[in-house]
Amino acid sequence: MIKVNLAKAIDEKLLENYHQEVKKIHQMIHNKTGPGNEFLGWVEWPKDYPHDEFMAMEKLGKALQTEIDVLVVIGIGGSYLGARAAIEMINGLSSEPKVKVIYVGNTMSSTYTKQVLEFLANKEFGICVVSKSGTTTEPAIAFRLFKELLEAKKGKAIAQQRIVAVTDQHRGALKELATTEGYASFVIPDDIGGRFSVLTPVGIFAMIVAGIDINLVMQGAQEAYQDTLSDDLTKNEAYKYAVGRYLLNHNENYLAEMLVTYELQLQMVTEWWKQLFGESEGKDGKGLLPLSCVFSTDLHSLGQFIQDGTKNIFFETVIKVNQPELDLTLTADQDNLDGLNYLAGKTLHQVNSIAIDGVINAHHETGGVPVILLEFKTMDAKMFGYLSYWFMRACAMSAYLLGINPFDQPGVEVYKLNMFKLLGKK
Ligand code: PA5
Repeated sequence: MIKVNLAKAIDEKLLENYHQEVKKIHQMIHNKTGPGNEFLGWVEWPKDYPHDEFMAMEKLGKALQTEIDVLVVIGIGGSYLGARAAIEMINGLSSEPKVKVIYVGNTMSSTYTKQVLEFLANKEFGICVVSKSGTTTEPAIAFRLFKELLEAKKGKAIAQQRIVAVTDQHRGALKELATTEGYASFVIPDDIGGRFSVLTPVGIFAMIVAGIDINLVMQGAQEAYQDTLSDDLTKNEAYKYAVGRYLLNHNENYLAEMLVTYELQLQMVTEWWKQLFGESEGKDGKGLLPLSCVFSTDLHSLGQFIQDGTKNIFFETVIKVNQPELDLTLTADQDNLDGLNYLAGKTLHQVNSIAIDGVINAHHETGGVPVILLEFKTMDAKMFGYLSYWFMRACAMSAYLLGINPFDQPGVEVYKLNMFKLLGKK
């Protein structure tokens, strides 16, 4: 479902040198013999996920849908980005869903937090609080505030029915709180880290309440699982992408990868991708800095720099979606005062696609920027499942090529500990 084109990025003959290395790493992933092997639960998840827990989530999520106007999703990093990426990609940005989803706990901005609390004052809302450790400061603060509001508005008994916790099965403050207060809770498996957890209850419960068919999401993930089972670099597009970006970094010394989308509703997918690759690879003084742009928007800001600015820092990975959910045809105007009649008869998607080709040529041929092209058809539930799993596969391969443990995040822990110290946490 995803086609990778490296023709404008690297000399594709170089891939031949990596067949054995890729096979070795593929075996390492499947036999769980590499660094971080205790966090490989996501690999088999599309076929092994607990169907009874998913059914319980559907039952509860659909019941909640009938009671609330807004779902407040509380979480940060891997406990936030995936749900938002899925909901925005699949539902779009201006649909009017039965239940609106608002995200908090990803910031300690007092202004934003107070604004959301005020917005909810006259709304019927529920809470999905997500934290694997159960101790992260930002979501913990948000949960205290939003739980207080819900209890004040509806009373403790109704609040208890409208709060769902997604956390560790046994440990952490959130688990204890959920047990004490009697909240429904769903499990983040021990062997799946935050940024690899979007297809677990972390992302799935919010998707259900947002009206997404999670069976389709999981079907897409299963297809990606099947398509990435091959250790043959010529047959595994995720590995081809991983080796392509590795070569640009390792052989050509590019320092950053800019993921480009021409679809606004994929912006949060690019944010999720930034965490996935940034937190997995940015270690031991290594890794590509993951950046992102939305074109055409950013063509009118960063476009100048990309075309003409400092060279050899970054390459682009461009996402091209071939079959839009919706399209419209441009018509001829009698007066043609805007001079656009030359586009009459074309659909807006055709114009967008031509723009993609034109920009790739400008950036690559004239600007000298290497471009990897990722093409897929749709932006629906199945594609989200496919895309998210596919990127996780590519990420594991890519980090192992660099000789890095993809599944820890020692750098994130440093800031958390420093903050605790300054705030006086015992
Ligand atoms: O990917 C990760 O591990 C991190 O980004 C975490 O998801 C993030 O720090 C939130 O942690 P937690 O889910 O424990 O609250």
